[in-house]
Amino acid sequence: MADSRQPVGRIRLERISKSYSRRKALDDVTLEIVGATVHGLVGANGAGKSTLGKIIAGAIRPDAGELYLDERQIRPADPHDARRHGIALIAQELALVPHLTVMENVFLGIEPRRWGLLARRRIERRYAELVQRWGFQLQRDAPVGGLRLADQQKVEILRAVASGASVIVMDEPTSSLTSVEVETLRRMIEQLRGMGTTIVYVSHSLEEVLQVADAISVLRDGRLVHTRAAAEETEASLVHAMFGAAVDAGQVEKPAQAGGPDVLEVRDLDLGALLKGVSLSIKAGEIVGLAGLVGSGRSELARAIFGVERMDRGTILVDGVERRIKSPRDAIDAGIAFVPESRKDDGLFMQLSVAANATIAGLGSIVSGLGTVKSSAERASASKLIGDLSIATPSPAAKVATLSGGNQQKVLFAKWLFREPRVLLLDEPTRGVDVNSRAAIHRLIRHQAASGVAILLISSELEEVLALAHRVLVIRHGAITHEFAADPPLAEVMEAAFGVAGAEHSPP
Ligand SMILES: Nc1ncnc2c1ncn2[C@@H]1O[C@H](COP(=O)(O)OP(=O)(O)OP(=O)(O)O)[C@@H](O)[C@H]1O
Ligand SMILES: [Mg+2]
Repeated sequence: MADSRQPVGRIRLERISKSYSRRKALDDVTLEIVGATVHGLVGANGAGKSTLGKIIAGAIRPDAGELYLDERQIRPADPHDARRHGIALIAQELALVPHLTVMENVFLGIEPRRWGLLARRRIERRYAELVQRWGFQLQRDAPVGGLRLADQQKVEILRAVASGASVIVMDEPTSSLTSVEVETLRRMIEQLRGMGTTIVYVSHSLEEVLQVADAISVLRDGRLVHTRAAAEETEASLVHAMFGAAVDAGQVEKPAQAGGPDVLEVRDLDLGALLKGVSLSIKAGEIVGLAGLVGSGRSELARAIFGVERMDRGTILVDGVERRIKSPRDAIDAGIAFVPESRKDDGLFMQLSVAANATIAGLGSIVSGLGTVKSSAERASASKLIGDLSIATPSPAAKVATLSGGNQQKVLFAKWLFREPRVLLLDEPTRGVDVNSRAAIHRLIRHQAASGVAILLISSELEEVLALAHRVLVIRHGAITHEFAADPPLAEVMEAAFGVAGAEHSPP
């Protein structure tokens, strides 16, 4: 069990390089990670952070260079082998087995595949201890495939701690967690460090990294810029190191107040037990923020409007015309676009090119077997979007699967802008993107609004919602409970989302 070991977990990378065709994902990186510390790793999208994490955890092999664990050279052949050395990875793109349960995933590869009755009892006990100790509540026997992203992320975290690893690489572990869960993870990391575990922590939230890390390394274009004590860094100094001169200081400026006719109208929408009588309207050029906890029904609302979930009851009007939406196809035909929370599951076609993904005519074209870029005009538009969003890709023809996580997110965004929608449903549109790209996406959202699109913005980051939205709705237990005009105090929205004043600080 995790506490009966004596880990040291000092990692040294010596002149590590890794290339993909001509592109250097990592270029001669030498780096020391002190044992029993939290080591932050930051850099722009595509800087090489995940590549570095995967090399430490055996998920990819470097082309050159050496890896040392406690002064002993190791060459993990695969993640399983790395686990034997006590190294675990919480990957940016979660790697769970969808049809296995939460508990089975947590102990996968740690315990034998087939469990007898006795083994099962023992494992159930261990699971109960783990959950109690680390404070994550999950449905133990539910298949993970059906869990929301935040819960899948928690399963990955439990899995890493269950293995008793002395080194845990966490690649954006908080990208879909709520503030309470982020806080739980932070306490967890502190305890792990106290027990002697080394944590490599990758995140685009510089605030988070500054808070949790002892030392921070900055990567830029595959090279190590420097490693410094976290106490010596600030958000500004990190941004400068990440981007050099090309810093985007662009403040989020709210678009002028929208006053057009209603573009989207939703009346009395019911979806099983998840949504109850939800009504809302969004005007042309208006950005409506939807705040609520994970599980409040916020993603389900977007999915129901887009026809991914079949609503039981309710009416949807676009530009005053009632539309029957029974599938994403119907939604697309009605002029609705949707940037989903999970790019891997319902957003992108990983094996198609960047250009094809960006210009694909929605889900419909997959049904009809298309998926190639048809005209040179489309190619030109794709190139322009790639430029606008500074998507780091060797060429528009590169497969999306070969892009870094944040750059995939930008492709997902590009795909819908290309469609020139009337209604844009955004579920966590800046998840995993670096601060510069985040500013670029914010500009694009504002630009879309200014050109008359009605926008529903869902984000776990209340700051993001408040910065962009003209109006904020709070959803709780599947119903809209509050409405705030522009610029409500963050604390009030938070209280409304939790339903109780101060609940943020005392989760049950
Ligand atoms: N399998 C692959 N094939 C080709 N290129 C790849 C592959 N994996 C990564 N790359 C490239 O290597 C570079 C570094 O990618 P990496 O995923 O390490 O970036 P990152 O810093 O984690 O970015 P992000 O913040 O977006 O997650 C990128 O240019 C990426 O496109
Ligand atoms: Mg990454």
